[in-house]
This record gives sequence, C-alpha cells and structure tokens, in this order.
Amino acid sequence: IIRSFYPKLLSGKKVLITAGPTFEALDPVRGITNSSSGKQGYSIASACSRYGAEVLLVSGPVHQQTPAGAVRFNVTSAEEMKNCVIQLLEEEKPDVFISVAAVADYRPAHFSDKKIKKENSSDSYSLELTKNPDILSLVGHLESKPLCIGFAAETNDVIDNGRLKLQRKGADLIVANPANAINSDSNDAVFITKDSLKTVGPGSKEALADTLVLEINRLLKDRNC
Ligand code: CTP
Ligand code: CA
Repeated sequence: IIRSFYPKLLSGKKVLITAGPTFEALDPVRGITNSSSGKQGYSIASACSRYGAEVLLVSGPVHQQTPAGAVRFNVTSAEEMKNCVIQLLEEEKPDVFISVAAVADYRPAHFSDKKIKKENSSDSYSLELTKNPDILSLVGHLESKPLCIGFAAETNDVIDNGRLKLQRKGADLIVANPANAINSDSNDAVFITKDSLKTVGPGSKEALADTLVLEINRLLKDRNC
C-alpha cells in the first residue's frame, strides 16, 4: 500500500546497480575484501524500485534482503562483477548505471588450489597483487553509455577527490562522502556534477537514496533535452 504513495518518477526506466564488496580469493579458504555492508547500494535499489524503475542489482557477498521488485545477480570477485555488468548492459540496455560497490582495487596475482601453508622459517610473507578492472570507468567510457553515477568515499579532500573521479571515470554524477560512512547507518554527502555541487544530509542512507532518485530524474531530463 505504501508503495503507491511514491510518484513513479522512474517508471519505464531501467537501472543497473552494483552493491556490496567484492571478495578476491587467494586460496580455497582465504581472500582479500573491502569493508562494505551493502546497505547504501541496497537502499538505492529499493528507492529506484519504489519510484517505478526496473532494477537490476549486481551484488557482492552481503547479508541484505533483496529489495522488493529488484532482480539480483550474485557475484564474488571484481572480474565476475565486471562480466555480469557487461552482459546486462548488452542484454538489458539500462538507462542508468549506479556503481555503489566497494570493488577491491587489487586481487592476488596467483590463486592456489591448495591451502597455502605457513612457512615456519620466515616471519614475513609477501603477496603479489594485480590491479582489478575499474568497472565504473569502463562503463563511463563506452560510446553509448547509460547515465553513470559513482560513489567516492574519501578520508580527506572530499570534493577535490570527488571531482577527479567524476572526470577520470566519465561519470555524470559522483556522490562523495567521508569514508566513515561505510559501515554506519547514516551518511552526509556531496553530489558533484560537472557544473553543480550540492550537499545532502546528514541523514539516513534511505534519505540519501531518495534524494539520489530525484537527482537522477533531473539528470535524465537534462540529457533528453
Ligand atoms: N569502482 C569500480 N571499479 C573499481 C574501483 C572502483 O567500479 N575497480 C567504482 C566504485 O563503485 C565507485 C567509484 O568507482 O563508484 C569510486 O571508487 P573508489 O574506490 O572511491 O575509487 P578508486 O578509483 O578505486 O580510487 P581510490 O580507491 O584510490 O580512492
Ligand atoms: Ca578503490
């Protein structure tokens, strides 16, 4: 019943969202990951669905319930997330891509089929890492690309770093926020586009998701003018 009170601002629109962390395996029992609850991405998926969008949610490993109306694709590594996103871009042609996932920047260069044993002869252990693909940047540089939205969690120079990411990744909007929001329930953020700067919050991740939907609606309209 509550759903019907929301204006269907995004009806007829398809939104592809990545959420949660990625996990990069080192051996069958270990790996490296990023700290991410998935809460912000799932709140955004839920808001987009409430506002009438068709939602495709590509999710790393999280403990979150799939929002009503969203179709969820589970992935583990950044490489899997990238492949899933590329396939959905081709098959579903989404209008909007929202990259909320905390993608691990690097993965172990080698995967060991067998559990790596501790060497008692040495007190240190080095791990070789390989850079993961930048999924947002990849989508942001496609010739016919959806409206691209990224996040930037920063410990310092939030706006400057956000602006750099907007340019480098070919995004239309960066939601920049202090890094301490990652595992908390609330968020204060700055919406950065090439010609505007807007502070949002402090407020809940749900409130930020609602404000983001309004901004997406505005950007989609600008785009079609
Ligand atoms: N992102 C991505 N693929 C990656 C890394 C990041 O799609 N391999 C996306 C994130 O989902 C986010 C945006 O890019 O929307 C910014 O992520 P962030 O980690 O802040 O940026 P990086 O470019 O990885 O820079 P750094 O971690 O060095 O600040
Ligand atoms: Ca990163």
